[in-house]
Amino acid sequence: MKILVTGASSGIGAACAFRLAKAGHRVVGASRSGSAPEGVVGHVLDIRDPQALESGLRNIVGDLGGLDALVNSAGVAVAGALEDTPLEFVRAQLETNLFGATCLIRAALPYLRDQEGGRLVHVASLAVDVPLPFQALYCAAHAGLNALCEALRYELEPVGVRVTVVSPGSVRTGLTANRRTARAGVVYAGAAEKVLTANDLDEEGGIPAERIAEVVEKVLGRRVPPERVAVAHWHEKASGPLRRVLPERLFRRVIRSHYGI
Ligand SMILES: NC(=O)c1ccc[n+]([C@@H]2O[C@H](COP(=O)([O-])OP(=O)(O)OC[C@H]3O[C@@H](n4cnc5c(N)ncnc54)[C@H](OP(=O)(O)O)[C@@H]3O)[C@@H](O)[C@H]2O)c1
Repeated sequence: MKILVTGASSGIGAACAFRLAKAGHRVVGASRSGSAPEGVVGHVLDIRDPQALESGLRNIVGDLGGLDALVNSAGVAVAGALEDTPLEFVRAQLETNLFGATCLIRAALPYLRDQEGGRLVHVASLAVDVPLPFQALYCAAHAGLNALCEALRYELEPVGVRVTVVSPGSVRTGLTANRRTARAGVVYAGAAEKVLTANDLDEEGGIPAERIAEVVEKVLGRRVPPERVAVAHWHEKASGPLRRVLPERLFRRVIRSHYGI
């Protein structure tokens, strides 16, 4: 297959690009830095820049000789109380994970439609099912893109493009160190610090990015791919179903007690 993996310079995207290339696929890895793992052709592509994105994608598809699959893993993380978050951080979160990802998918669709059985694999987050405290913007961006993918299936199935949402729980990647955290004001400082410290620990003890790559490879290998796959420690996976059976307030109490707030 001819595959574009975004976010291929680090973490989940890098693991996916490396694994897919090793399996014999033709892989371009895109990111702002353009660096990519061994066996993968790196391209510079900033998904926050819609104009550069269209021409960048054209070059990538030219290099690949077509596009069978887009694996969408470019993303950033912003944390902190919304009230404390500078607009620059708000923009970075929504323009990358929501607006940028949407523009990329939109621009990639004509190429994916051109192929027999084009594939869109979007790397989302379990935070879509279980929104996390002091990461409201991150959760909102992922929830928006998840809704986009769900609605797109009505448009894309008739034209032969299949959409899979892969939802990781905590994963050990550069995201933890790269996260932009708003400086907490007095109102939220205590709770925000507790939550974000616990969140960092969850990610440091998270699953390796290679587990997501393994799943993405399997998804691309299936004639009829699954629509949604969660990849996480069992207790994180259980949080979605638990939320559906517990009253909302009780569920929030469970989440609060996990973070000590
Ligand atoms: N790690 C986790 O625990 C976890 C859990 C659930 C979901 N996820 C999601 O998985 C996705 C990948 O995260 P990760 O953990 O692999 O993080 P990561 O290690 O920080 O990698 C993020 C990748 O996105 C690229 N990127 C960021 N902004 C970009 C832009 N404007 N244009 C193009 N590329 C851009 C980065 O490369 P450059 O800096 O070179 O541009 C990097 O390659 C994110 O959407 C994240 O929310 C992660």
